[in-house]
Amino acid sequence: MPEAIRYAVFPVAGKGTRFLPATKASPKEMLPVVDKPLIQYAVEEAIAAGATNLVFITGRHKRAIEDHFDSDLELEELLREKHKTELLDVVHSLVPDNVNCIYLRQGEPLGLGHAVLCARAVVGNQPFFVHLADDLIDAETPCLEQMRQLYEETGGSVIGVQPIPADQTDQYGIVDGDPLDDGVWRLRGMVEKPDPADAPSNLAVVGRYILEPQVFDYLETIERGAGGEIQLTDAIAALLVERPVRAYRFEGLRFDCGSKLGYLQAGLHFGMKHEEFGPAFSEYVRGVVAAESS
Ligand code: G1P
Repeated sequence: MPEAIRYAVFPVAGKGTRFLPATKASPKEMLPVVDKPLIQYAVEEAIAAGATNLVFITGRHKRAIEDHFDSDLELEELLREKHKTELLDVVHSLVPDNVNCIYLRQGEPLGLGHAVLCARAVVGNQPFFVHLADDLIDAETPCLEQMRQLYEETGGSVIGVQPIPADQTDQYGIVDGDPLDDGVWRLRGMVEKPDPADAPSNLAVVGRYILEPQVFDYLETIERGAGGEIQLTDAIAALLVERPVRAYRFEGLRFDCGSKLGYLQAGLHFGMKHEEFGPAFSEYVRGVVAAESS
């Protein structure tokens, strides 16, 4: 049995310029989809896959994330006085008692690979999840849990992928691999944001990784890559020469909440399936569509 994965790394230092002015004073990871911020969806997914140590790689202006996962005794007291027990449960149980939140600062914006490397001092010699909160995935079995089940069979690193339109390869890490099973490839290579003409496939990495700790050694030594940044993709491409790395096409709907269009689509999707007002909201949406097309 490979070692259980207890650490999840959340790189959250990015500026979120695409969402200005909304992200001027508030982190993009705190943008809500219906009633939960993106980072909370991320944390819930990692906890569902067994993570008990959540490592946030933060930067300037990200304090709201720490406050969100911290307990707020004043707020809890107020809700208790007003007998708002359901809301009290909601704010109290954001993170279960057996889960630790650890915050590390990425001093310089040197890229995703550098952000992940910042976690080395905490994660040490253990396998870990990396979760990019911008990529919101709705799946019956949460995406990281699907990947963990594959990892459990043989260990090694696992990269979550989805097919994308061939003309969008320059927005993603793209994998090159040999098929092993339905939806599983043994990786041969990986490139960051290739032009469509140079892309080895249309299978894109969408913000979910299980990584063996050897990746840290490569992150320490690789040169800056695409965009002048230390790229996680380049470190994984070096790792796979030495260690098995598999790509896994997960089941689920993915929303690119790093773009305004994807974020709006996520709001619509999660709004329409919301337990409380999903049916009323769906009816409203259908009415709007009907009025548009008449
Ligand atoms: C990052 C990664 C890229 C990956 C993408 C997924 O890029 O570098 O390999 O495909 O996330 O969202 P970014 O979108 O931060 O430029």
